[in-house]
Amino acid sequence: MSKRYTITAALPYTNGPIHIGHLAGVYVPADIYSRYLRLTGNDVAFICGSDEHGVPITIKAKKEGVTPQDIVDKYHAIIKTSFEDFGITFDNYSRTSAKVHHNTASEFFKTLYDKNEFVEEVSEQLYDAEANQFLADRFVIGTCPKCGNEESYGDQCENCGTSHNATDLISPKSVITGNVPTLKETKHWFLPLNKHEQFLKEWILEGHKKDWKPNVYGQVKSWIDDGLRPRAVTRDLDWGIPVPIEGGEGKVLYVWFDAPIGYISATKEWAAREGKNWEDYWKNDDTTLVHFIGKDNIVFHCIIFPAMLKAEGSYILPENVPANEFLNLEGSKLSTSKNWAVWLPDYLQDFPNQQDVLRYALTANAPETKDNDFTWKDFQARNNNELVAIFGNFINRVVVLTNKYYNGIIPEPSDLSSIDQETLAAVKAYPSVISSSIERYRFREASQELMNLARLGNKYLADEEPWKTIKTDEERTKTVMFVALQIASALSVLCEPFLPFTSAKMKNILNSRDNSWNNISSKEILLPADHQIGKAELLFSKIEDAQIQVQLDKLEASKKANEAANKAIEPQKKEITFDDFTKLDIRVGTILEAEKMPKTKKLLVLTVDTGIDTRTIVSGIAESFKPEDVVGKRVTVLVNLAPRRLRGVESQGMILMTENESGDLVFVNPDIAEVDNGLKIS
Ligand code: MF3
Ligand code: ZN
Repeated sequence: MSKRYTITAALPYTNGPIHIGHLAGVYVPADIYSRYLRLTGNDVAFICGSDEHGVPITIKAKKEGVTPQDIVDKYHAIIKTSFEDFGITFDNYSRTSAKVHHNTASEFFKTLYDKNEFVEEVSEQLYDAEANQFLADRFVIGTCPKCGNEESYGDQCENCGTSHNATDLISPKSVITGNVPTLKETKHWFLPLNKHEQFLKEWILEGHKKDWKPNVYGQVKSWIDDGLRPRAVTRDLDWGIPVPIEGGEGKVLYVWFDAPIGYISATKEWAAREGKNWEDYWKNDDTTLVHFIGKDNIVFHCIIFPAMLKAEGSYILPENVPANEFLNLEGSKLSTSKNWAVWLPDYLQDFPNQQDVLRYALTANAPETKDNDFTWKDFQARNNNELVAIFGNFINRVVVLTNKYYNGIIPEPSDLSSIDQETLAAVKAYPSVISSSIERYRFREASQELMNLARLGNKYLADEEPWKTIKTDEERTKTVMFVALQIASALSVLCEPFLPFTSAKMKNILNSRDNSWNNISSKEILLPADHQIGKAELLFSKIEDAQIQVQLDKLEASKKANEAANKAIEPQKKEITFDDFTKLDIRVGTILEAEKMPKTKKLLVLTVDTGIDTRTIVSGIAESFKPEDVVGKRVTVLVNLAPRRLRGVESQGMILMTENESGDLVFVNPDIAEVDNGLKIS
């Protein structure tokens, strides 16, 4: 039965090109899903566009001495081309600087304002007096109040995914000047998420417990359990969509308020172009809305945007938000700033016309349930051992033999043996097996089922050995080749969501473009006898060790460059007075006990003898030290730092640390066995 779907893929920020992490986490799965739905006869609007507002873009513009518009124009073009190059079939790829988007987002804001859905409040916000600038979002970093990550942004911690207000950060620091921010009053409009808590509980916690991915459900539950608070949806910035109401002069909409509305604007733009009604795709209960995103976007798509849609009142809500975890690269986190990435334009240069190989490798190893690692060795193995040795090999043998024995004309089969019948029956079962995986957002599994069908083809040929029977039994050979050609045809259709370029090539070779997904199980024959096929073409080719080495060398060069950059000495901080210095009470201490803070990666809870007392200090060193390694360590402790709570544990002081040459944390160690705890350092 044909259904209507609105499929969205997270709008990428236009502050750089896109890399394999984006492709694996969001765009390839979303494309597989959309292609599959179209192939099975559904009405699909697959929507995306560039996210062109937000602080990272203004920071990048400042760094490069150009305007934010220059930055977004440049990367919008690059990103759009990458998507086209990799066969991502958006029905519309729009951008949030488009007029239709500014209008749609403004209207949306005004509607909520008129419905009294905002709380207007003058409050103190972080301010950098030197830069003359309020410090929202990525203009400020500090320690995440939830997980202790010391480099959390003002609006979101990338380590634990929590979204917070900038004033929640512990020890905030301006990204612009490095200064400690002051507080300054300013007026903003807040979306009272607390007001929507009950609805979110019922809709997600009760309604989607079974069908949403555990990683998504778990995150949402933890936020709701922590209690939701009002979130500012406006900012004191000059890049963004102007706040369209009185009193909003000089302010813009928060990027995470406007960007998801971009899905709606992009649908409007598409509908106008195609003569469709956009409201069918956003306001009709028969439409299924699905958001494809990475895990750092979960809070925005599962809590904030739905609360906005609900408050507005006339929109449907997502049926599912199949967020992926992160993809790492050769054991380390992908990072734009550290150039630790495989950029799509670079990939295409080094592996021209091999988009399907990357699509396949990323799908087969997708970070669906946990973070996953992309390695060039695995990429090579997926290509050489699966695409070349199994899939390509099967198709190639079928096409070459058909040409060799029958001049490319499909032979008439005689009676089918039981093996032939079982094989054809097995082929017919594949569409529903693959469908079932795709419909449950298990794209890795789906890609492996596809490969299993190619395996089945290979095994059939290996068992029936047409290259031998051609000398002894012509009739049997015809039947075997006929059956093998049916498998090849099924593969050409079923691989389309995963390997679209290969599918098109195969359909050309087989001279068959009309079979649909549903035909495979319903039609008796996919390619009839007497049908003329074309010549063999290479679908995949072996990737050599030398090619992989080139990629590993590139990464090694990035690593070296980063190490060199890390060694650069930070400039001296602002001068302080002697009085300032004497305020610090630094003592020698000993760590008596240590244990990991549950559910965190970085935090250790330490019991420290400071000479004055025995106290608890929470320290973000768990990635560098095991608890048992630090017990007994002599340490330097700032004892009169105001206590602060981390994950519910009160930390009473700070252990002084520094980094060694390889960037690992090390203790600033008193290193004198005979000094007593409590000894002052001055
Ligand atoms: N630009 C955001 C990111 O890259 C995603 C925006 S998704 C949208 O993380 F919903 F806001 F559009
Ligand atoms: Zn955090």
